[in-house]
Amino acid sequence: MNKAPFLVKPLDASYDRRIFCSGSPLLDRYLREQVTQDIRRRVAACFVAVTDEQCIAAYYTLASASLLLADLPIATVKKLPRYPTVPAVRMGRLAVDQAFKGQGLGSAMLADALERTARSEIAAFALMVDAKDDIAADFYRHYGFIALPDSPLTLFLPLATALSVLANKD
Ligand SMILES: CC(C)(COP(=O)(O)OP(=O)(O)OC[C@H]1O[C@@H](n2cnc3c(N)ncnc32)[C@H](O)[C@@H]1OP(=O)(O)O)[C@@H](O)C(=O)NCCC(=O)NCCS
Repeated sequence: MNKAPFLVKPLDASYDRRIFCSGSPLLDRYLREQVTQDIRRRVAACFVAVTDEQCIAAYYTLASASLLLADLPIATVKKLPRYPTVPAVRMGRLAVDQAFKGQGLGSAMLADALERTARSEIAAFALMVDAKDDIAADFYRHYGFIALPDSPLTLFLPLATALSVLANKD
């Protein structure tokens, strides 16, 4: 997993969200029209990778979540306490502008989200993601994310695993 080649910052009003184009109209529209409301209502936080010209090259969102123990693979459950749920952080959206695709930015944003989540003083067992389709799910599997047995587009990566991978990269 790469480190971010751009500065990654919380989204604020100084960035122009209108010109972002990931090739996914839903993800572009969310950044353009909805994200600031979600931030205001504290249902999502949004982080952006910005170029020297202050253009948004990529974004992701994070929010608190939980995983039902009953939904997790048995091998994972065996290592967890018998609580009905375990805490998680959901990366609801991740998108890279088409001009920057294939240059390691998606991977760098994922690494940034994992580090940010792991640095928090509030415990979370895993970073979870909702992949928008099978292609996106493949991207996450490439980094070791595990699909929920009954919902293959919901995947999770235990933060302990992620941190050891990131530490070995340094
Ligand atoms: C998926 C997405 C975030 C990837 O971003 P990117 O910057 O193009 O990806 P990167 O250049 O960081 O790729 C890093 C690695 O992931 C691999 N990869 C990229 N997309 C992949 C896919 N769909 N399946 C499997 N592997 C993939 C690359 O081959 C590369 O592998 P390597 O490091 O071993 O060479 C980007 O294509 C995107 O914004 N897509 C549209 C929105 C989307 O699908 N979001 C996903 C969440 S819903």
